Parts: sequence; C-alpha cells; structure tokens
Amino acid sequence: MKTLLVTGGAGFIGSNFIKYMLAQHPDYKIINLDALTYAGNLENLTDIEDNPNYIFAKGDIADRPFVQKLFESYDFDTVVNFAAESHVDRSIENPEIFIQTNIMGTQVLLDAAKNHWKTGKDANGYPTYRDGVRFHQVSTDEVYGALGKTGMFTESTPMAPNSPYSASKASADLIVRSYGETFKLPVTISRCSNNYGPYHFPEKLIPLMISNVVELKSLPVYGDGMQIRDWLHVEDHCSGIDTVLHKGVCGEVYNIGGNNEKANIEIVNLIIKSVSEKLREGDYAIDNDGSEISTDLITYVEDRLGHDRRYAIDNTKITTELGWEPSYTFEEGIVETIEWYLNNQEWLGQVKSGGYQKYYENMYSKK
Ligand code: NAD
Ligand code: TYD
Repeated sequence: MKTLLVTGGAGFIGSNFIKYMLAQHPDYKIINLDALTYAGNLENLTDIEDNPNYIFAKGDIADRPFVQKLFESYDFDTVVNFAAESHVDRSIENPEIFIQTNIMGTQVLLDAAKNHWKTGKDANGYPTYRDGVRFHQVSTDEVYGALGKTGMFTESTPMAPNSPYSASKASADLIVRSYGETFKLPVTISRCSNNYGPYHFPEKLIPLMISNVVELKSLPVYGDGMQIRDWLHVEDHCSGIDTVLHKGVCGEVYNIGGNNEKANIEIVNLIIKSVSEKLREGDYAIDNDGSEISTDLITYVEDRLGHDRRYAIDNTKITTELGWEPSYTFEEGIVETIEWYLNNQEWLGQVKSGGYQKYYENMYSKK
C-alpha cells in the first residue's frame, strides 16, 4: 500500500484528484492536508469522507512542527503538493499570502520529506532515501509567462512569470528542483494548463460565467476578451499526475495539456448559448427558463494588470515518453461541466453564501 500526503485536497483539483486516486488505486491511503482557506471546501469530498483509506487533517503546509508531526504519524511515501493560493486576481490585490503559502509552504514540505525519508549518505556525501518515495509538485503553465500569436510552451521554455501568482509558483518549482539537484530528493514537477470541471470555485472564468448567466447577472470580460487559455478537463489533469507519479523520471518536468486553445470570449459565448438551451429544454431546479439569456449580459470591463495574452502547452513529452493522453474532448467536457453546475446549484449556493465554511465545524466536531 502507498501512503500519500495530498495537500490542498479540499480545493478544486485536489478534491478531484483524491477521488480519482481512491477509485484508481483502492489500496492507497490518502491523507488530505488542507488549511481550509476560502478556497477549501470539504463538501467537495462528501462522497468519500467515510472511505477508510481517506483521512482529513486541517493544517497549514507552512506550519513546520505540524507538518513534521504529520510525517511521523502517517509515514507518507509520496507527497503531491496542490496546496496554494491559486487566483491571479487575488495575487494582484495581496501578493504576500502567495509568497507565504506557495513558496515557504513548499519548502517546509520539502524539508519534512527530506528529513523523514533520509536513510544515510552515499560515498559523495549526498543523502540517500528509502526506495519508492516521491515528492511531486503540481505547477502551472503560467510559470512560462505569455505567448504571442504562435508557439507553445515546452518544458525547456525559460520561466518568465508575470503575475505574483505565477512568480510564486515558479519560485516553488525552482526550490523543488534545487532539492532534487542538491539533496538528490526524488522530485517531479508537472505544469498544467487551465483546468475546468466540477467543484471549480466560482471566482474563476468558467464557473463564474455559468453562475452569473443562471442568475442573469452581467458577465465581466476583461479587456477585449481575446486572451487565449488552453483548457483541460480536471480529470485529465488527475490522470496526468497519476501517470507522472507512476512512470515519470525523477528530476524531470512534465507539461500537461490537451491542445485546446480558446479565446475567453469564445468560452463566454459558448456558456451563454449552452446554458440558455439547457434551461429552455431541460428540467432543472432553477428559477430561470433561459428565455432572457443573451449576449447582452456581456460587459467588457477594465483589463487585468499584466494580463497574459496567450497560453498553449506542448504535451509531446508526457504523451510520447509516458504514454498519457487526455480522455475528454473539450466539446463533451464543457457540456458535462455546465450540466454539473446546473444540477448542483445547492453546492454553488453554499459556496457563494459562504455556508460551506461551516461544514468542517459541523462535520468534524462530531468525530
Ligand atoms: P484551489 O484554490 O481551488 O485550492 C487550493 C487548496 O489549497 C484549497 O483547498 C485551500 O484551502 C488549500 N490551501 C491554501 N493555502 C494552504 C495552506 N497554507 N496550507 C494548506 N492548504 C492550503 O486551487 P486549484 O485550482 O485546485 O489548484 C490546485 C493546484 O494546482 C495549485 O497549486 C495551482 O497552482 C495548480 N494549478 C491549477 C490550475 C487551474 O487551472 N486551476 C492549473 C495548473 C496548476
Ligand atoms: P482565470 O479563470 O482567473 O484563470 P487564469 O487567470 O489563471 O488563466 O481566468 C481565465 C481567463 O479569463 C483570464 O484570461 C482572465 C479572464 N477572466 C475574465 O475575462 N473575466 C473574469 O471574470 C475572470 C475571473 C477571468
């Protein structure tokens, strides 16, 4: 049995990952370490909270004594670090917490892994580690900066982050790399493009637009709406990380992406059309028959500072060397995602009202 420390497992991708891994590897034990910031929502995990191989631990990845104790208690052999402040707009408003969590927190985890897994020293003075251990850092294509009209990010594209968020993620990647080089810690890094899918916090483009369309609220498109993102279904990101954990070579970086570039305005138009059609035709517990939904809801607003124009991932390395490929086409994935939001208005309402933040108190005070 493997014992995984998954950090940030109450967030969007982390919660999808825990469920994915428990389904794919029923003999794995997963400890979810999450600070439950505004973005952490245990309601994302209700369907597996009674799984005997799943344990939740509330705590901060930057809390050194707490993290060390957790390693001693559970003897992890694998760390998958999702925990982060993840929203670019928030990083422009308040960069400090991004530095604290994304950089300092990663270093605390690396130290704990290094100290816990160390078995001795080799002839050259490098630490040696237990067999089969791995520290995996979940990173982003945003560390590469922005592209012009052509080209794609490969793993050897120089890092040129533009936002405090992407700069903090790039810093963390470099620290992870340095622990691999200097201490020979078995590390891997994956850099994924924009994810979409269920349980995405409604401050990000896709869930925000779906939520606003349903409520007939205006749809804030930054700048000219022609910025391009390369969208990947969250489950494909999870299978990509699973692949890197099992087949990836230590010390290597793997880009994860599905060759699916879309301009923001295309996404917004698609959501308007699809939600309107579904509400006209479908049977949802929503007080909106779709007839008033139109592109009139779009409002062009002031552009984001330092807004990256285009991202595009070259996934050749992970597809050819590790045999990974995405399973969703965007066309099916986005329709399924829109349906998920229409069918999970209660989840969305809880998140928007802040009600989800009481879940931990209610649920875990009884345990
Ligand atoms: P999210 O904001 O939905 O979730 C982040 C989680 O981390 C939350 O549960 C939060 O409570 C937790 N957290 C924050 N600070 C913490 C701390 N100090 N200690 C412990 N837990 C803490 O983010 P997400 O979209 O799920 O992204 C997860 C990871 O994937 C991040 O590292 C992000 O950089 C990376 N990533 C995201 C995308 C994307 O499109 N969302 C793409 C590529 C990479
Ligand atoms: P976002 O979901 O915040 O992801 P990221 O900035 O990490 O790529 O934003 C995706 C794109 O959508 C980005 O170009 C900014 C744009 N955007 C809007 O135009 N309006 C919005 O309300 C939001 C949240 C994002």
